[in-house]
Amino acid sequence: MLTKAPRGTNDIFYPKSNLWQYLETKMRSVCSRFGYSEIMTPTFEHTELFLRGVGDTTDVVEKQMYTFTDKGDRSITLRPEGTASVARAFIERNMYANPLPVKQFYIIPCFRYEKPQAGRLREFHQFGVEVFGSQNPTIDAEIISLVHMLLSEIGLKSVTLNINSIGCPTCRKAYNEKLIAYFKEHYDTLCDTCKSRLERNPLRILDCKSPICGELAKDAPKLIDHICEECSTHFEGVKTRLDALNIPYVINPDIVRGLDYYTKTVFEFVAEDIGAQSTVCGGGRYDGLVQELGGPETPGIGFAMGIERLILTLESQGANFDVETKPDIYISSIGDAADVEAEKLVYILRGAGFYAEKDRVGRSLKAQMKYADKIGAAYTIVLGDDEVTSRSAELKNMQTGEKTGVQLDALADALKEINRGEE
Ligand code: HAM
Repeated sequence: MLTKAPRGTNDIFYPKSNLWQYLETKMRSVCSRFGYSEIMTPTFEHTELFLRGVGDTTDVVEKQMYTFTDKGDRSITLRPEGTASVARAFIERNMYANPLPVKQFYIIPCFRYEKPQAGRLREFHQFGVEVFGSQNPTIDAEIISLVHMLLSEIGLKSVTLNINSIGCPTCRKAYNEKLIAYFKEHYDTLCDTCKSRLERNPLRILDCKSPICGELAKDAPKLIDHICEECSTHFEGVKTRLDALNIPYVINPDIVRGLDYYTKTVFEFVAEDIGAQSTVCGGGRYDGLVQELGGPETPGIGFAMGIERLILTLESQGANFDVETKPDIYISSIGDAADVEAEKLVYILRGAGFYAEKDRVGRSLKAQMKYADKIGAAYTIVLGDDEVTSRSAELKNMQTGEKTGVQLDALADALKEINRGEE
């Protein structure tokens, strides 16, 4: 136990941490070009927020939350997702008084007690965006296009965008009755959880993981065939804009999403060939959420992308990222005086913006050079007593073997000059 991380958690370390950083940089870059600012919310919230926000008949709330009572006797939950927290912050921090829409993004750890498998963890990370204050289908298209652009810039291939409309409370009321009537005919076949959901929230049955309920769901009436005129016009507006942006999509009437707050547009980016957990990104509109949480009537929409799943997909597609950090220079030394000089030089070079390394474990000169080669240093110099006295040394290009004389007191300038020449 002592040396084993809890089931469903991961350590992220070099070089994967570099890939992670690269992806986060891309996410932040795309978000800033689309006008989204970063929001950071607490890792834990009052449990009630998720009961009300995510919905108490969802798998997330019924089965997967890390909930505990704190020392002040409050029920606290580690966030299973980001939307409810961002909506809570929107209300609590009076963001509705800002010019609308309010467009924010986050990169956060989330926690769900699920059965771990490839692409499904108990602690995982989401990159998500949330927009408040626009009912307009153009914002639906904007967030979908943001994901599309990010995935293209990262070079992710073989992902399909699935979209659907699951209507508003008005059209859903009539639809729910049809759904209840359909499932009642098959009541005995339903799993126990779905039996209890039938009257309270029949839509959830469509998203049940049990194979038998899944089979039944295939022939159930489809929401998209029952949406009202307003929802239908809205959906057309989204599709028109995706067409204009040349973003390919498939209309998939089976997408209902696993959380209760969704209305109208829902969508998923699904990767081929990463197995069962293939939804890299999921999202949709949630026009009733802010009001449900006690805020003013405010439409909203967003998505979240699983970062581990994104990486898994990239790996399965053989994406080759050059993510290793290699030193610009390694300074070898022989003897105490040279070691002290090397200490000074790496400090100066690091201050000048270079990644400089020196010996830290007492290697022989031969071993130092072997090590410099192994960690991929671009240049090396060797310092002995002579070099320290003359304040000059030979700079060796590790790739070509070529050597040039340099002044130790102008080493940073010499490296800058070389870099300029290579550009
Ligand atoms: P979600 O579909 O529950 O939606 O999660 C979004 C994404 O998070 C999934 O598509 C998947 O990539 C990743 N994910 C979910 N659970 C796990 C897990 N156990 N292990 C690894 N990755 C996982 C939401 O969370 C909504 N809040 C999205 C949203 C934002 N809708 C509107 N705004």
